[in-house]
Amino acid sequence: MDAEGFLAAAAKRTETELERYITGWNAAAQDLDEAIRYSLFANGKRLRPALVLGAAELVAGDSEPALPVACALEMIHTYSLIHDDLPAMDDDDLRRGKPSLHKSHGEALAILAGDALLTMAFDLAADAGHLDIIHEIAQAAGVAGMVGGQVLDLQSEGVALTVERLEQIHHYKTGALIRCSVRCGALIAGADQHQLQALTVYGETIGLAFQIADDILDVSGDEAVLGKRTGADAAHAKVTYPALVGLERAKELAREAQTKAQNALKPFGAEADMFRALAAYVVDRVK
Ligand code: IPE
Ligand code: IPE
Ligand code: MG
Ligand code: MG
Ligand code: MG
Repeated sequence: MDAEGFLAAAAKRTETELERYITGWNAAAQDLDEAIRYSLFANGKRLRPALVLGAAELVAGDSEPALPVACALEMIHTYSLIHDDLPAMDDDDLRRGKPSLHKSHGEALAILAGDALLTMAFDLAADAGHLDIIHEIAQAAGVAGMVGGQVLDLQSEGVALTVERLEQIHHYKTGALIRCSVRCGALIAGADQHQLQALTVYGETIGLAFQIADDILDVSGDEAVLGKRTGADAAHAKVTYPALVGLERAKELAREAQTKAQNALKPFGAEADMFRALAAYVVDRVK
C-alpha cells in the first residue's frame, strides 16, 4: 500500500466512525447537525486521523482502540478550519473545494458549528478511556498550541518576520495538532519512552513539512491556479515560507523537514516504512 492508499483507508474508517457517532448524538437543532456534516464530510485528507491510527499500528499492531481519538482530532481540525475561514480571521470563501461554512450556512452557524465540534471532540476522545490523552489534546488545541498559533499568525499580517519566527508560528498553529495526533496514537498503544520520543520528533517535523507545503500550495498548487485556493493568505499579506524565502528555498526546507521526520523513525526499522512514505507524501501532495 502507498501513502495515498493508507490515507484513503484511514479516511474510510474515520468517516464511518464519525457517522456512527453523529447519528447518535441527539442534536437539539437540525440546522446545526447539517452545518457540521457539511464541513466534516467534505473530502478532507484525514491526515491527522491517519497519523493517530498509523502510530498505534506501529507501536502495538492494532489501531482499533485509537479510532475515537482519531475522529476527535479530525473534529478539532475541522472546527479550526471553519473558524480560520471566518471574515474576522482569514476571510476565505472556499474550503475543501466548496463554499466555506459561513458562506453556505451563515456566520452564526459557522461559529457555533465550530464550538460544537470542539466540545463534542472531547466527548468522543473520552471513549478512549485515557485521561492523559484528554490533557494531550487540550494542550495541543488551546493556548499552548493551535489557538495560540492562530493568534500569532493573525498578528504576523504585514509584519517583517524571520524564518525562525515563522517556523515558531507554524509550530503552534499547525504543528501542535499534528504532533499530538502521532503522540496520541502512540500513547493509546502503550508506547515506551523511547518510542514516544522518536514519534514525537517525527510528528513535529512532519508537521513543519506539512505547513511549508501548505504555504507552497497556497501560491503555486493546482488549486491555486484553478482558483480553488483563493490565495486569501496572500491577500492578507500573511507571511508564508515562499513569501519569505522564495519558492525554491521553501521547497528545500520542506524536503529537509521530510528527511528529519524520516530519520526519526530509525528505531522502528522497516515497520515504519508507511510513515516514511507519508512524510514524502505531505511534501509532494497536490492538495
Ligand atoms: C489545511 O489542513 C490547513 C492547515 C492546518 C495547514 P489540511 O490540508 O489537512 O486540510 P484538509 O483536512 O485536508 O482539508
Ligand atoms: C490554518 O492555516 C491553520 C489552522 C486552521 C489551525 P492556514 O490559514 O494557512 O490554512 P488554509 O491555507 O486556510 O487552509
Ligand atoms: Mg489561517
Ligand atoms: Mg486560512
Ligand atoms: Mg495556508
